[in-house]
Amino acid sequence: MNHKSKKIVGIYPGTFDPITKGHLHIIERASKLVDRLILGVAKNTRKEPFFTWQERMDMVETDIGNLPVKHCEMVVKSFDNLLIQFAKETNATCIIRGLRAVSDFEYEFQMTGMNARLEPEVETVFLMASDKWQFVSSSFIKEISRMGGDVGQFVTPYVESKLNDIKAT
Ligand code: COA
Repeated sequence: MNHKSKKIVGIYPGTFDPITKGHLHIIERASKLVDRLILGVAKNTRKEPFFTWQERMDMVETDIGNLPVKHCEMVVKSFDNLLIQFAKETNATCIIRGLRAVSDFEYEFQMTGMNARLEPEVETVFLMASDKWQFVSSSFIKEISRMGGDVGQFVTPYVESKLNDIKAT
């Protein structure tokens, strides 16, 4: 088999409710590891998202359009099935996840273990969030925005405008 011609496809999955600069930093770094990166927006998660899946996809599409990414094709797709099934459907061989603090570890460890049991051919690759984004989370951003705080350092102006639209209604 000619390995040189084989394109590496990876998935960066998440709820992205909303996408943050921390996610964007992981996406930019992941784009250097794969030829095609699928940004998988989970339609329904246990989290009961604040934004609809269409709004979350729109924010991801808009934000990644401004990233300085070279040599990686990026595609935004929603999914409503098991992550591992979605990986198979899209020919992805790796799942990329960002790790922030130690507190992320247990959940990620379990999810990786379950996914590996379901499909051992798909690897999960972790990228450590840089110190600047260690404490950022979508939930805190929503709370700060709702209570009138400034979230401009954590999300792009586009996402900030979407958070403001919701506050205004
Ligand atoms: N910088 C800043 N924040 C980050 C970050 C980074 N690099 N990486 C993650 N986060 C934050 C997010 O803001 C989010 O914060 P919140 O919990 O306050 O909302 C949190 O970390 C994780 O969110 P996200 O990255 O969007 O992923 P998720 O954990 O919501 O995604 C799925 C979970 C979608 C991957 C998982 O539920 C899934 O696979 N679902 C499909 C069903 C399935 O296969 N189930 C079986 C699993 S074994």
